[in-house]
Amino acid sequence: MWGGRFADGPSSVMREINASIPFDKKLWRQDIRASLAHVAMLAAQKIIEAEDATQIIRGLNQIAQEFEANGITENLDLEDIHMHVEARLTEILGPVAGRLHTARSRNDQVATDFKLWVRDALDMVDAALEELQKALLDRAEEHADTVMPGFTHLQSAQPVSLGHHLMAYFEMIRRDRSRFADARTRMNESPLGAAALAGTGFTIDRGNTAQMLGFDGPTRNSLDSVSDRDFALDYLMAATQCSLHLSRLAEEFVIWASQPFGFISLPDSYSTGSSIMPQKRNPDAAELVRGHSGRIAGAMQALVMTMKGLPLAYSKDMQDDKPPVFEAHDLLGLSIAAMTGMIAEVEFRPARMRELAESGFSTATDFADWLVREAKLPFREAHHVTGTVVALAEKQNCGLSELTLEQFQQIDARISEQVFDVLTVDASVASRSSYGGTAPIQVKAQITSARKVLGLE
Ligand code: ARG
Repeated sequence: MWGGRFADGPSSVMREINASIPFDKKLWRQDIRASLAHVAMLAAQKIIEAEDATQIIRGLNQIAQEFEANGITENLDLEDIHMHVEARLTEILGPVAGRLHTARSRNDQVATDFKLWVRDALDMVDAALEELQKALLDRAEEHADTVMPGFTHLQSAQPVSLGHHLMAYFEMIRRDRSRFADARTRMNESPLGAAALAGTGFTIDRGNTAQMLGFDGPTRNSLDSVSDRDFALDYLMAATQCSLHLSRLAEEFVIWASQPFGFISLPDSYSTGSSIMPQKRNPDAAELVRGHSGRIAGAMQALVMTMKGLPLAYSKDMQDDKPPVFEAHDLLGLSIAAMTGMIAEVEFRPARMRELAESGFSTATDFADWLVREAKLPFREAHHVTGTVVALAEKQNCGLSELTLEQFQQIDARISEQVFDVLTVDASVASRSSYGGTAPIQVKAQITSARKVLGLE
């Protein structure tokens, strides 16, 4: 395909280092789609004969059928997917196939194909994340009134609603989806027609091919068009951030499933046993989601490092853009699916959550707030009195609500019977009804509005 200038063929190492077909064969649908648009435009602009275009279109459709049915036979001499399609087209049509590459280069071709692929990937991720959001909403609704310990520093802090905790992840996924949507909007310009780097002298219509391929319009600078991989980086960065969220949720599942916590029982379908310890039920799927996030972040870093410092326009380094994106996409898809399944099927253990929420003096802040509100103490003084009460309860080995009124009043005479109203975990959770707070009334309101945003009611 470029042999005219060369006396010798490539060495076997050259062949191997040069070839991208082992991974870029994934782009075959996009490659054929872009070629179909290109050839239709060439004919419409009378750059090639309508008759030739018809033949080329027929040939491309035949190749699509063949690849669909039989897969692609890799030939390292043909380097990449673009040459595999063109070589097969030549076998089918003879020399007329050579007219397809008029006013085009593999540089704008690969940028176009890869963009189309990433655009599809963005749409797939978005749909998968919506399913995860639905699963979170269902479980959050079911557990809006379930009390669990809320943590800071992984120390019991204040009781919260389990539904509230799950909805925190809903919010993260909401932001992830907006990042993917944002990436999609930004990337949706067609590089096709930028040719090798400088544009072309043929009277092509880039607006036409852009439209046929579902782009908002053509890119405005040919050099940028063939050297831009921002869209791949945008995808990887959004994927990285999304995978961080999945990893945090996975980590919580690992902790919650451990015996000392016992907050959840993971479904059989997402657990594994041990070959030696018969009692084991390991949270492998969650651990792998946690692990995969490291690989996704690594893929992002790989492309960052590849692109850094490349001069304009195309350099072959850019062929290495695809493996990290393909890998990250596979890992992210699996991670989202696994988390969605786990969320949908996990068995929560409300009794155990409540038991732990009630230990650890988790309503101490409620007590201090009561002293401020009802006994009119300055907060700092209330904090001090509360500390003394907690120390006493710790000494007595009991919860705050198990202390007697006399014991309270010995510490501070301003404490009255009403204090017991705020010492239970339910009262504590219900009282935090500020906007976005953990009170079930707030949580349910957030769930309702989230369902509206998703078009579910
Ligand atoms: N396989 C190449 C890639 O993925 C296609 C572009 C080749 N362009 C070139 N000038 N060698 O980047």
